[in-house]
Amino acid sequence: MKIHDLETPALVVDLDTMERNLQHMADYCHRHGLNLRPHTKTHKIPQLAKKQMKLGACGITVAKVGEAEVMTQEGLDDLMLAYPLFGAAKALRLGVLLERARITVSLDSEESLSWVAQAANGKSIDVLVEIDLGMRRCGVRPGTGAVKLARLIDSTARLRFQGIMFYPGHLRPDWNGNTRRLEQLTLDLQRQLDLFEKEKIPVRRVSGGSTPSAFHSHCIEGLTEIRPGTYIFNDRNTIEGKTCSREDCAATLLTTVVSTAVPGQAIIDAGSKTFSSDPLRPGEKRGFGLVKNYPEVQFLSMNEEHGYLKVPAEVKLEVGQSVEIIPNHICATVNLHEVIFGYRGEEVVESWIVKARGKIR
Ligand SMILES: Cc1ncc(COP(=O)(O)O)c(C=O)c1O
Repeated sequence: MKIHDLETPALVVDLDTMERNLQHMADYCHRHGLNLRPHTKTHKIPQLAKKQMKLGACGITVAKVGEAEVMTQEGLDDLMLAYPLFGAAKALRLGVLLERARITVSLDSEESLSWVAQAANGKSIDVLVEIDLGMRRCGVRPGTGAVKLARLIDSTARLRFQGIMFYPGHLRPDWNGNTRRLEQLTLDLQRQLDLFEKEKIPVRRVSGGSTPSAFHSHCIEGLTEIRPGTYIFNDRNTIEGKTCSREDCAATLLTTVVSTAVPGQAIIDAGSKTFSSDPLRPGEKRGFGLVKNYPEVQFLSMNEEHGYLKVPAEVKLEVGQSVEIIPNHICATVNLHEVIFGYRGEEVVESWIVKARGKIR
């Protein structure tokens, strides 16, 4: 089947671009002696996680227990749950997962620690303390709090303190002051590692990394592992954040113009239920995606099933015409799709069920 024979809207992936993105990151990590533990929340597809493992990943990252369940059912057996665990139901489910996989968890509170301890139930669990190195989301502030949590982990039966994790989501190449942020992060991390050393607590793993910061990871002394996710596909956010070029965007939404009744406008068959409503984060530009091959056309608003393209007079878009769009945020977009189609050239050669879509618990 040819790509333009697909029923729309369809989320399609250029396999050559995706494979190049995967190889680029794998090579970078190999060159700098960093472990790569890709965050699979971007694609939510076990086959793609296995592809990442084949290229040398040391394991995978997930956010939710439900994602971990899907991935372990498909044979992935070294996972990091990079999300604070809370509650009896999740502790029970984590306990079941420990029967078939090695799971590392990260946490930043005593409350979460007690649920992880409950999950252990005879099994051992590696634990990382999450520290906040500038993102201001989760993580204890660098200092003695992390040391206290590490001691508590080590004094809890079956739990083993392995090291620290952080999410450097505030590091973006295009933002002013980014070099200063990176230097500050490196300094704060070093101080934290020095403190652990002074307290004679071994830190075996230091896990960081996001897509925008990934290729700066070698500048962060002490880092042993990174967890980029978006890099497999990239999106408009990564383009506008100057982390990649348009040619590095592997995933696009194939849509069809269904109405041109209103002058200066074309309506496509995809809205917020296809793209998600995530805004563009970096830069000044607005809208919900980048219209490929039509740089003058803007995708400025959406209803659930309608996308509004603003079309200047010199551009002609006709009903039935195919329009390809790079979404703002590919991770949220993937989560809305049952199937993703992979193509080479014009030919659709593969399709994957998005098995972990909707796994928000
Ligand atoms: C804890 C954690 N690690 C890694 C990542 C991956 O970052 P990116 O999506 O920039 O690749 C995320 C993204 O949300 C995250 O929350």
